[in-house]
Amino acid sequence: MDLTIEPSAAAACEKAARIIADLAARAPASVLALPTGRTPLAVYDTLARWQRDGVVDLRRLRSFNLDELVGLPPDDPRSYAAYMVRHWQEPLGVPAAHVHLPQVMASDLGAASAAYEDRIAMAGGLDLALLGIGENGHVAFNEPGTPWNMGTHVCNLADSTRQILRPAFGSLDLVPRQAVTMGMRTILSARHCVLLATGAAKAAIVARALEGPPTEAVPASALRSHPRVTVILDRAAASALETVADEPRRGSAP
Ligand code: PGA
Repeated sequence: MDLTIEPSAAAACEKAARIIADLAARAPASVLALPTGRTPLAVYDTLARWQRDGVVDLRRLRSFNLDELVGLPPDDPRSYAAYMVRHWQEPLGVPAAHVHLPQVMASDLGAASAAYEDRIAMAGGLDLALLGIGENGHVAFNEPGTPWNMGTHVCNLADSTRQILRPAFGSLDLVPRQAVTMGMRTILSARHCVLLATGAAKAAIVARALEGPPTEAVPASALRSHPRVTVILDRAAASALETVADEPRRGSAP
């Protein structure tokens, strides 16, 4: 595992952006798995700035989102499809046909999930998965206890996850109860996994994921079995790690 601790969230996000930009420079039509949420916003903003400045060309990248909330049509501003239009497709100038999300309006979500796996395979598989981590250890919407051998599937959201989503929906009753998510098998099939976590709220779960026993109770701990994983943290998210506390030269932190 390649672990980098950056002095700030902005620096951590810039490092993740650099990994994507370098991949695009080497292989412009690479296939990414991409997250939504708060953490990657600065990654996408940075990439959009570099695209505008002409230092990178990301328009041929193809992407598959990690997950989508069941019941939200793509034009609902709270959908992850709408998020991707706002933060990826439009600012980077990526054609809509290159941006894929799980279909959550289909009548047969099981079949739609299988079709998503097929589309990833037809694209040649995932070259890079950019991943966040939930405060409960989830990766995409693989909530604690989800078996690691699952592909894309319909899942029930944990109560704590629904609480975190509540502000966007006003009341907890209105927060979707299900999502379609890539499974850990899909995510671990990526040729390179990049886990990005920032902020003190992630410190405890980052320590459990990286230093505790690998267990389905902490989905992110599955990443430790992956042959090529890069973990990028800011100092706050790294603050509960024991093994690096005495190694200030690890990563790029001064
Ligand atoms: P966040 O979400 O980036 O909004 O903290 C991370 C996650 O739940 O995976």
